[in-house]
Amino acid sequence: MSDVNEREIKKLPTLRGKTVVNLFFEDSTRTRISFELAAKRLSADVINFAAKGSSVSKGESLKDTAQTLEAMGADAIVLRHGSSGSAYRLAHSGWVRSAVINAGDGSHEHPTQALLDAMTIRQALVTNPIGSDLSGKKVLIVGDISHSRVARSNLILLKALGATLATCGPATLVPRSLEPTGGIFYSLDKAIDEFAPDAVLMLRIQSERMEASFFPTEREYSRVWGMNSERLSRLGDSAIVLHPGPMNRGLEIDAASADSPKSKILDQVQNGVAVRMAVLFHLLAGDKRETR
Ligand code: CP
Repeated sequence: MSDVNEREIKKLPTLRGKTVVNLFFEDSTRTRISFELAAKRLSADVINFAAKGSSVSKGESLKDTAQTLEAMGADAIVLRHGSSGSAYRLAHSGWVRSAVINAGDGSHEHPTQALLDAMTIRQALVTNPIGSDLSGKKVLIVGDISHSRVARSNLILLKALGATLATCGPATLVPRSLEPTGGIFYSLDKAIDEFAPDAVLMLRIQSERMEASFFPTEREYSRVWGMNSERLSRLGDSAIVLHPGPMNRGLEIDAASADSPKSKILDQVQNGVAVRMAVLFHLLAGDKRETR
């Protein structure tokens, strides 16, 4: 799929006649647009549904909304929702026959983000990424882990690929229940010096999911847990920095780090299109309705 995206004509006929609905109850730039682009590059029809401005504001439920869209011919529903477990519920409730893809459910999971993160890490750190794994590579996940669906999906996927993982952040935002094999650090300086990560995944502070104050001030957060030029210079020569976006520049990552050669943030965005093409292809190409 990456190769297709490099061509002059970035299009395959594979999903001609299929319809993909982007059903987004929360805001999104990267995930929604990359799913739209992915579906279009595979020649599917795409409907973009945003809860804002729809009959959801009149009280229509997820079930009725999804069934309405399926009645109009949806073959796949890409769901982003603020409630953890919503994608699982839609996929397993029997409400719809369409394929259901989780595009982020509350603070639970964001599987396609983890896939594109893993692809980006493998591209940068593994000589021959096809068929190889991340054994021996160390990935540090930094920031608001408690509220992060990106962290949860990455902890599962990167572990499955053999990476050694560690988490880092304020004690109030790093759950001990998720302790990875590389441990938990409460200082980014200590994590860089002692864990010596090959990849550092900076997370967004998810203020919209916080019902209390989890750190003293933004200035304090950025001073202790933010990525900056000085910390960047202490990473190994081949080490990389990632961020799922959207970034709070100056809070979890400063501009110099975000724009440095070590930053793979735009590679993540680019890989997101290919990964989502692959996901749609696996779910919709051919007659897989009985087996998916
Ligand atoms: N990484 C991510 O999910 O970004 P969006 O919220 O812009 O989709």
